[in-house]
Amino acid sequence: MTNSTNSKATTYWDYIKVEELLALQNGLATDEDELSNDEVLFITVHQVFELWFKLMLRELRAARDLFMSPNVAEQELSGAAAIMHRVSTLLRRCTDHFLVMETLPTREYLGFRDKLMPASGFQSAQLREVEIILGLEEKDRIGYGLDLSYLDALRAADGSPSPALKRVERALDDTPTLKFALEEWLCRTPIDGMAPDDPKAEQRLNDFLSDYLAAHSLSVDRTLECALLLAGKDHDRKKLTERYAVEKDSVRKFFQPGEDEGGQRTRRVRAAILFIETYRELPLLAWPREVLDALVEVEQLFVIFRQRHARMVERVIGRRTGTGGSAGVDYLDNTALKYRIFRDLWAVRTLQIPADLAPELRDAGFYGFVSA
Ligand code: HEM
Repeated sequence: MTNSTNSKATTYWDYIKVEELLALQNGLATDEDELSNDEVLFITVHQVFELWFKLMLRELRAARDLFMSPNVAEQELSGAAAIMHRVSTLLRRCTDHFLVMETLPTREYLGFRDKLMPASGFQSAQLREVEIILGLEEKDRIGYGLDLSYLDALRAADGSPSPALKRVERALDDTPTLKFALEEWLCRTPIDGMAPDDPKAEQRLNDFLSDYLAAHSLSVDRTLECALLLAGKDHDRKKLTERYAVEKDSVRKFFQPGEDEGGQRTRRVRAAILFIETYRELPLLAWPREVLDALVEVEQLFVIFRQRHARMVERVIGRRTGTGGSAGVDYLDNTALKYRIFRDLWAVRTLQIPADLAPELRDAGFYGFVSA
């Protein structure tokens, strides 16, 4: 390698900082040779994760910045989808990495576990930063089972703020989140050919939703009819009918969000997601739909990452209390179950209907669609 700005030839070791990197796996010892191979593996695997988290953060911030611009050009959307695909690939690699961690036998881990106490992955500032930039809300965080918030856990033993805490506090100040930025962009989606700043936009939105609700009702009736063919007993038929009635009702409620859920803004966001998914063949909606699907994939992989971590933990330490003091596997399973950020993107999947039942578009030409 040669460096164009000076005559000195660049070396691999200078550029990649190999020596510096290889000198960082000694944990609390002064010399890595004092540690077992198991412990060096434990440290190294965590460090590799932190590097992947670092890259994820850069990508997620770039995606957030992209959606915050008042006009997101068509070609930029392919860039946003590419960002999400990279984040998904990183998350897949992280999930695979637990395979390496699992080569650590329980007995060998217990040989050095006590010296970590009370350190824990719970103190991984970068994972918190990922959650924060994505848009995990404080009210949705799960208690740790102790009187200790995730921010308290980032304080040094004497209570002073650590570099990790400062990092997370900076992330909290670095607004908006990707979720918020995405919603701002979704709010601007023209529905049935009408942009939100048009004086008639509200009426057009209402018309789209009322047509959609009617089509959805038809779709549910059609499915219920098939379901009833299988149910022999009256009791089961009654149960199924009630269940499908709840489905119908939940769609109506979904489009009447209360003020605590964001009121009209949320209604428009939800309608935009539904609109994009329903008419995704239209040239102007193809990339938006790719982006939404890529985001669902990121969140799905995040959930799988959490589940995989919990299974690895169960294999290595069973169901004992975590070094950080949580209930261990139960706590981790709970985060996998409950932590969701892009809830509306998921919810719309429950409401979608087959293409043949979709309401007719009022202005297909607006989206670059010319019928033959
Ligand atoms: C033998 C290996 C591991 C064990 C036994 C283990 C165990 C645990 C346990 C029990 C918790 C719950 C908090 C506590 O009470 O300590 C936890 C949290 C966590 N661990 Fe691990 N872990 C291991 C490896 C890893 C690795 C390689 C990573 C990668 C960075 C990681 C990342 C995390 C994160 C980010 C949390 C916080 C999860 C949350 O609060 O949502 N862990 N770990």
